[in-house]
Amino acid sequence: MIKLHDLYFKPFISEQEIQIVVARMAEEIANDLGDKIPVFIGILNGSFMFVSDFVKKYPKTCEVTFIKLASYEGLKSTEDIQRLIGLTQDLTGRTVVILEDIIDSGKTLEEVHRIFRNENVKELKIATLFHKPEAYKKDFKLHYVGIEIPNKFIVGYGLDFDGLGRDLPEIYQLKTTQHMTNIVLFGPPGAGKGTQANYLKEKYNLIHISTGDVFRNNIKNETALGMLAKSYMDKGELVPDQVTIDMLAAEVEKNTDAKGFIFDGFPRTDAQAKALDELLAEKDSEISAMVALEVDDEILVKRLLERGKTSGRPDDADESIIRNRIKEYYKKTAVLKDYYSAQDKYFGVDGVGSIEEITDRLSKVIDKL
Ligand code: IMP
Ligand code: MG
Repeated sequence: MIKLHDLYFKPFISEQEIQIVVARMAEEIANDLGDKIPVFIGILNGSFMFVSDFVKKYPKTCEVTFIKLASYEGLKSTEDIQRLIGLTQDLTGRTVVILEDIIDSGKTLEEVHRIFRNENVKELKIATLFHKPEAYKKDFKLHYVGIEIPNKFIVGYGLDFDGLGRDLPEIYQLKTTQHMTNIVLFGPPGAGKGTQANYLKEKYNLIHISTGDVFRNNIKNETALGMLAKSYMDKGELVPDQVTIDMLAAEVEKNTDAKGFIFDGFPRTDAQAKALDELLAEKDSEISAMVALEVDDEILVKRLLERGKTSGRPDDADESIIRNRIKEYYKKTAVLKDYYSAQDKYFGVDGVGSIEEITDRLSKVIDKL
């Protein structure tokens, strides 16, 4: 994902895919034009990268020139098209192929046709790398179209958003939902995960989703998913991932305006991590980071035994049970650490110190996301 000015864009069409399409267009046009030596006319600014790649791939003799028109302001096509640089050569009797980066409403194309009305060219063909059929308001024939795309704003490969993004070799698409900070929070028992989750959700205005709580609430409120989950638990079976995911999806859905989520107690497996990625991708979002509190085993044991003296939790009273819980934690989370490390999203944070010190360390990680 990238940020240009105040908006976020997600990867949409790769450099390789673009190159394949450009090569296909060059070949098709060369075949159609036979022995004619065409004049390719790029529409500046947006088409400079397309024209450059296109003519390099064009297998026959050709001429190249540019005209410069401007219509877009920010994210919107405007009514009045300015001619900034016009035609500078006589094109009488020539085969002219317009090379456009993108044809959107078609207003720019209308201006192109106006420019050529009195030029007495032999033929005028229109080639565009990208086309948004849903936005196209004109009926001029488009002779060559590289890729049809949905009616969403794109940047990269010559196309800009208020001056930025032209230099990118691939295409990015505007994200329609706002940017979210989504954190998978991990910590061994006794690391202070619950305390930190509470601070972080306040500080960053995030929704804390604890899988344990979600389960208990669904079962208590006898929701359809809660009853389904309970039916597995009553048989002593594991609740299938899909049921858990559906419960989480419902929580995410309830908070469509959220600035982001803290996932606590989920994912636990590779499959769950992938399912969570898919769930967030549907929201045009992604996991920003897995943040794991790191605390030495001996300190954890001491803390939990201390807590056991007052909490009354039987699993906090027995040292061998405590050590086993810690061991289980590392066994279960190793695979997730690998999963998020592979995406450069794993952040280990020293969990020894005062609550404020640890919150500070976590904030440093989150502020950089
Ligand atoms: P039209 O006149 O509405 O067809 O728009 C054509 C011009 O608007 C293109 O040459 C681009 O400069 C610009 N444009 C249209 N859609 C986009 C987009 O999604 N991203 C960036 N520029 C665009
Ligand atoms: Mg353009």
